[in-house]
Amino acid sequence: MTLTDLPPVTQRRLLVSDLPGPRSRALMERKVGAVAAGVGTTLPVFAARAGGGIVVDVDGNHLVDLGSGIAVTTVGASAPRVVEAVREQVTAFTHTCFMVTPYDGYVAVAEALNRLTPGDHEKRTALFNSGAEAVENAVKIARAHTGRDAVVVFDHAYHGRTNLTMAMTAKNMPYKHGFGPFAPEVYRAPVSYPFRDGGLDGATAAARALGQIDKQVGAANLAAVVIEPIQGEGGFIEPAPGFLPALAAWCREHGVVFVADEVQTGFARTGDLFACDREGVVPDLIATAKGIAGGLPLSAVTGRAEIMDAPHVGGLGGTYGGNPLACAAALAAIETIEAEGLVGRAREIGTLMLERLRSLQARDPRVGDVRGRGAMVAVELVEAGSDVPDPHLTKSLATAAHQQGVIVLTCGTYGNVLRFLPPLSISDELLHDGLDVLETALGSAS
Ligand SMILES: Cc1ncc(COP(=O)(O)O)c(C=O)c1O
Repeated sequence: MTLTDLPPVTQRRLLVSDLPGPRSRALMERKVGAVAAGVGTTLPVFAARAGGGIVVDVDGNHLVDLGSGIAVTTVGASAPRVVEAVREQVTAFTHTCFMVTPYDGYVAVAEALNRLTPGDHEKRTALFNSGAEAVENAVKIARAHTGRDAVVVFDHAYHGRTNLTMAMTAKNMPYKHGFGPFAPEVYRAPVSYPFRDGGLDGATAAARALGQIDKQVGAANLAAVVIEPIQGEGGFIEPAPGFLPALAAWCREHGVVFVADEVQTGFARTGDLFACDREGVVPDLIATAKGIAGGLPLSAVTGRAEIMDAPHVGGLGGTYGGNPLACAAALAAIETIEAEGLVGRAREIGTLMLERLRSLQARDPRVGDVRGRGAMVAVELVEAGSDVPDPHLTKSLATAAHQQGVIVLTCGTYGNVLRFLPPLSISDELLHDGLDVLETALGSAS
């Protein structure tokens, strides 16, 4: 049977074995014997196929996907345009290295990103492989442009696992512990976290952060301020309105490069093409990855031409950056987002999920906060009626959901946030089913 003959993935949750089933258990034994222990897995279930809102495991179980492989398969895990474009490209050629003999897919992706990212100024793009690599390169570019060293990041930030991005990431365990020393000249400022900062308004929270930056770093030493417009791994923390615009304005005034890390929030995820769009914030540089290419590894830095062009020729790049298969996938994913109105679909998903989760919050004092935008939604779980984080409840809910065939992820500095990142190809029925499972699990959790 060829790939084209495969029947579509049935869009229904279906458990034909305990989870994990016998084949997954056997594969997990092989994994333990072959794969480095540091590479963890959220569910001990091995995937065989995926599409729409379902992941099918090797035992034939159909799991509801509320994670999209950590916000990657925004257009679905086997989106028809992506599958077709990659198939066509793979038969033409797999790699030449854009830095050796270039090809048009790379240029077309750069043109698309220059067109779609916030702001109508002259832009340039460079392509890389991972989110961390994009963030690192954004910092390199900002340093080359400004001639300054310092970089400011925020509490609860997550920017990746390479040496520089570990320094930029806030949380020690599991991301940094034992892996130092870290890159120097990275400074941390307080973010706006309405649920935990007494509901400071955006302007006040920004003044607090900028005051600290001014005193501890000094604008004249500062190359870049790097921020996730909605923090991802840190807990889906959406800053109060006005926070991001105030930071961006201060950066503009002081010649500091304002970098939006939209690795998790980009490409329709939040109900806007980019999360910065919601408040009309125009970053100088934007780092993108994850949802950019329908599951193929690709990332990008896009931004003002005069900043992007600062590094010398040969200073940016990498063997695989902007690989032709990933570029073909990205063009198809972007076409899918536009043709299928997926920005609007993300908003619909957000409305459905927030409504259901808020009604749960009204009935259960352990649901401390419900937040998010579009298909990037979370609940923060606390000890009933307090703001004391409850990571144990969070873990037990996630495990209960997994056992019932619903893929959910946890996050947050305190490990007490359940996050939902469904593919935008999921049906309302599957979303309701997943939330029903969660609701039942919460009802029986003590
Ligand atoms: C906001 C943000 N930045 C950077 C990264 C790192 O991306 P990658 O895992 O592709 O290196 C992530 C990954 O979760 C992320 O969410």
